[in-house]
Formats: sequence, structure tokens, C-alpha cells
Amino acid sequence: MSGTSADGIDAVVVRISSRGPGVRTRLLAHHHQAFGSTLRKRILHACLHGTVAGICELNFLLGEQFARAALAVIHDANLKPSQITAIGSHGQTVHHLPKAETPSTLQIGEPCVIAERTGIMTVADFRVRDMAAGGQGAPLVPYADWVLFTHERRPRIIQNLGGIGNLTFLPPGAELAEVIAFDTGPGNMVIDGVVAALSRGRKTYDQDGRWAASGLTSDRLLRECLHHPFIRRALPKTTGREEFGEPFVAWFIKRGRQLHLSHADLVATATEFTAASIARAYRRFLLPRLTARQLNRLQIILGGGGVKNPTLVRMLFERIGVGTLCAHEDFGIHSSAKEPLAFAILAHETLAGKPGNVPSATGARRPVVLGKIVPG
Ligand SMILES: Nc1ncnc2c1ncn2[C@@H]1O[C@H](COP(=O)(O)OP(=O)(O)O)[C@@H](O)[C@H]1O
Ligand SMILES: [Mg+2]
Repeated sequence: MSGTSADGIDAVVVRISSRGPGVRTRLLAHHHQAFGSTLRKRILHACLHGTVAGICELNFLLGEQFARAALAVIHDANLKPSQITAIGSHGQTVHHLPKAETPSTLQIGEPCVIAERTGIMTVADFRVRDMAAGGQGAPLVPYADWVLFTHERRPRIIQNLGGIGNLTFLPPGAELAEVIAFDTGPGNMVIDGVVAALSRGRKTYDQDGRWAASGLTSDRLLRECLHHPFIRRALPKTTGREEFGEPFVAWFIKRGRQLHLSHADLVATATEFTAASIARAYRRFLLPRLTARQLNRLQIILGGGGVKNPTLVRMLFERIGVGTLCAHEDFGIHSSAKEPLAFAILAHETLAGKPGNVPSATGARRPVVLGKIVPG
């Protein structure tokens, strides 16, 4: 799995038994393979300005990278490739257009290259089947959240802070059809973009949220950000770099200059906007569904790289104001391991011939078996 941050590949080895709500998983290894800065720039460029030739080559180049990550994590688990049943590969999203006249989405990282290098059957390209069935192709993690985290008495929100922020809401004892999931807006994407621009590319993220912690939020700029059409959009909704990438960041910085904000204030406001967009989504779409008693029992489980930004987590905590915040680590899952784990679970369902999308989350007309299977 490599997310919209394009920071690198997270790979896991997981033993899966049973399927559906009774699934049992055991994580055997997790490996992060960072992208070098040249490759990261190439990916980010491809996302908004890629040429056909550039994307054609990058598809194969990323296939090699995913294969290397798979082999490395298998090695870390003290296993041999011949002991692995299958690889589930999400690929790298380079474009996501759920609202276009012809809705479409593009994940690259050629699965034939992965299968050829590893000799392992590879299931890839999960999003397109959901989209073909009328869905947005995202979010796809909710199925895994549902099997891993549904609790009989506690409502839970599984909040991912990747490049994009997304959540899965699980009412107590949720049936699959009761799951609500959507993108809340930016996760780290705006913070990363602002930090990269202000540091002239020397930094790619606000390490440990220190820069944001040294600034003050501009309420004026925050209010303007919250007018973004995506924040106001109804469900189902998903977003990407098209809406919160370079052009948004360029506008944000220009507006900040007009308001005479310091660099630290800009990073603080980008961080506060991220937290506020999430808290607002909770208040609008989720909290009204809970009784006072359920609110007391609410658990919010944070994951993704944004968990390592304490300023973002603090702002989130202050703005949400209800529930108990915890991390995936409290459930024995490294925060960066959950998304690759989710795609392993989805590949497992696909190989069993079972659907893996959650139609209430993606808007698909029906449950569909996801992905394309490349023999090993
Ligand atoms: N120590 C840290 N301090 C602040 N932010 C961090 C730190 N480590 C990672 N991050 C953030 O996490 C992001 C990567 O998160 P990840 O969950 O991999 O997102 P994605 O799924 O979009 O790739 C980085 O781009 C960065 O913004
Ligand atoms: Mg990542």
C-alpha cells in the first residue's frame, strides 16, 4: 500500500483464517520502504501533470518498488515467497475522479511485475470494480475496519490520518449495511504541502508537529478553508490530491500572505483546518446518531502517519470534545500497518469469491468482488 502522501510503501505479512465477520488475523511483519525524493517528486508530478509516457513508465517502475517491498517484508517475517498464498496490492493512486462525467480512478504499480518478481499470485486494482458498480471506488478500508473493530456495546470511529483523512463509523454491534464511511478532507496533505512550499522543498512534513506548535491559528483563514465545497458536500464523499493538493496549497499560502501571517501561523492554521474538518464531519454526520449513553462509550481509534503529529492530535482532541481517543497500537496494530492489512483482508475475500466493498460507504449499487487476479 502506498497512500496519497506518496511517502513510501507500507507492507505487511499477515496470517488470515476464516473470513467475513469471523476473520482472524495475525500480523507477522511490517516494513516501511520510503520513496527517495526523486521518485516521490515523480509521483506527485504524475498525479497532476503526468504525461502518458511518464505514467506508462511509472506504472512499471512502481511495480518493481512494490515487489521489492513485498520481498523485504516476507524476509522480515522469516518466510520464503513460496510460503505466501497471495499479495494484495493497492498500488499508488495517481488520479481519482469520482464526480467526473465518467467517474474514474487510476492506481498504478503494475501487478504483473509484482507477480513476475515474487512468483506470488497478486490481487490488485481493487477500486475500479466498485466504481464500475456505481460507487466512488473509495473508501475501501471500511470492510476491514468492520471485521476488525466492531464492538457489541461501544460505538467506534476508526479515523485514518493519511494524506487524506477518512473514517469508518461502527455503531455498536454494526451490521455491514450500518457502517458509515467517508473522507473527511485533508489528513496530512495540506500540512505537508504548506511545509514543503514554505521550506522550499527542504522539508516534506512538519516533524512531530513542532512548526505548527510554534504558531497561532488564524480564525479568518480557517473559516475560509471550511467553506471549501468538499467540506460542505453531502455523503457519500471521497477526495484526493485534485482537491487538496498543489492548487489548494498555493491558494492557502497566497491568502495567508494577504493576511500577513507568519510561516508558523500558516502551518498552525493548516493543522487546525485538518482537525476542524474532521471534528465538523463528526458533528454533522455521526454524533447526532448516538444516544447520550453511547456518546459516553464512544472510542475514536486514530491511525495513519498523522498520529505522529502531536499538534494535530491535540487540536483534534480539543475540537471533538467527546469520546476516548486511542491508537491502533492499543489494538496491537502499528498505525501504518492497518491500511496494508486491510488490503490483505480484501485480497483474501476476493480469492474466496466474496465482495469487499461496503456499498453504504462507496455508493455502489451492490456488493462486488474487488480486484484483478494475476497468477504467480
Ligand atoms: N514524525 C512525524 N511528525 C509529523 N507527521 C508525520 C510524522 N511521521 C509521518 N508523518 C505524516 O504522515 C504522513 C504519511 O502518512 P500515511 O499514513 O503513510 O499516509 P498515506 O496513506 O497518504 O501514505 C507523512 O506524509 C507525514 O505528513
Ligand atoms: Mg504512506
